[in-house]
Amino acid sequence: MTREKWSSKTVFILAAVGSAVGLGNVWRFPYLAGQYGGGAFLIPYLIAFVVMATPILILELAIGQRMQQGPVKSLRQMHPAFGGVGLLGVISAFLVVAYYAVVMAWCLLYLLQSFAVAWADDPETYFFGNVLQISDGIGQLGGFNGPVLGALAAIWLMIYFCIWQGPKSVGRVVLYTVPIPVAVLGVLFLRSLFLPGFWAGWQLYLTPVWSAMLSPEVWTAAAAQAFLTLSVAFAIMLTYASYKNPDEDIAKSSWITALSDMAISLFAGFVVFAVLGYMAYEASTTVAEVTASGPGLAFVVFPQALSLMPLPGLFSALFFFMLLTLGIDSAFSLVEPAIATITDMKPEAKSTRVAGWVCLAAFGVGLLYTTRAGLYFLDIIDHFVVSYNAILMALGMALLGGWVFGAEALRRYINEVSDWHVGRWWNIAIKWVVPVVLTILLATQLSTDLRNPYEGYPAWALALGWAAVIVPVGLGLWMVRGQRQSVTTNRDALAESPVADE
Ligand code: PHE
Repeated sequence: MTREKWSSKTVFILAAVGSAVGLGNVWRFPYLAGQYGGGAFLIPYLIAFVVMATPILILELAIGQRMQQGPVKSLRQMHPAFGGVGLLGVISAFLVVAYYAVVMAWCLLYLLQSFAVAWADDPETYFFGNVLQISDGIGQLGGFNGPVLGALAAIWLMIYFCIWQGPKSVGRVVLYTVPIPVAVLGVLFLRSLFLPGFWAGWQLYLTPVWSAMLSPEVWTAAAAQAFLTLSVAFAIMLTYASYKNPDEDIAKSSWITALSDMAISLFAGFVVFAVLGYMAYEASTTVAEVTASGPGLAFVVFPQALSLMPLPGLFSALFFFMLLTLGIDSAFSLVEPAIATITDMKPEAKSTRVAGWVCLAAFGVGLLYTTRAGLYFLDIIDHFVVSYNAILMALGMALLGGWVFGAEALRRYINEVSDWHVGRWWNIAIKWVVPVVLTILLATQLSTDLRNPYEGYPAWALALGWAAVIVPVGLGLWMVRGQRQSVTTNRDALAESPVADE
């Protein structure tokens, strides 16, 4: 059976950029920058991005492209003990998309209400009261929230029709869903330059608060954001690369993806901070005051700012349309690892049907987040999956690629097929920098979570978060249990020219 392929190299790059550029760039990155001292956040972020996230991206593309299989089989073929790392990535991506789609459902509800600017009177009550209809605490499920449930069903239908034919349909969709939101962001940028107060916003964004750089928390947040934004450590990029030909470029595609993603985050920061500057101007307060609200940025602070502008309906509609189109290609990329893993296991299964079942299952898990306590659960699962699963998966891949398989053997393959050369620095990044830094981050995070229960949630609720870490890790370990007898790696066979063994 021949593996499905992207229709061209450009389509692959668009799909990779589409996956990387998502809600994380426009919503998460700016609020982190605001929260952790503006310009000073940018430095740890850029460092983590270049010395850790991008090397892992190169690694994932190399593994997927070389192995031509989904995450579990690819990693298992490199070394039998590492299939479980692939499984961890697949399950984690699935857990993420179950709530990522819910955030998109909120965007859809806002889009539908945009022209009426329904939130204008009190954006905070609108978000928590009208849209989420949030309950008093995580113990109170409060039943399903009808509109969110309906919107979530619509989002999953959209996701399904983007991916139902695998790389073929994804290839057609990304031609639109990647450039359109970037163009809309450009329009919002131009608009923001004419708002009074934009300069004060930019000042906060770009003025370093050096003391923030001494806090380990800033570095943890910066590293996690760098991984998240590049969609690495969730087996997504590995899966996408497995639909490329084994002799295609790796290094140049990785850098194009990484730099586009970074450029869009930085650019989005200018738009968001200009609008916050405007809001501070309108309310006669400081920009720091209006950014302080953190994650509510996209659904409380920004909508409020939009409602203050001339033509609020139009700009609100543009903003939420942008969020939806930004999110959709990240959402379907998160579904792909599960589909690829199942079709690897059951090649006779119809892939359109597998895609349908995976989407349905993720919708099913997402139902939890459409209850009136949904936001609390979403917050917990997001915290644990992003802080532990992604880091463990990256650590596993770095150990496999760097030590077990051998960074030099992989680099040789990368350089054999790539248009751009990858230097020896990459070996150091994969073998030393990534494992050492990630181990420190993991230990710090673990000690924080054990000392202070996350956000003060009750123990039973946090147990669910720990389960989201322990269950996939346990399944991964269980999977490799019987396979320890064969400890030799396939390095020698695999390090040979990929073109020769076609
Ligand atoms: N990279 C995307 C974003 O920044 C999507 C993503 C989210 C990928 C979470 C993996 C995990 O929004």
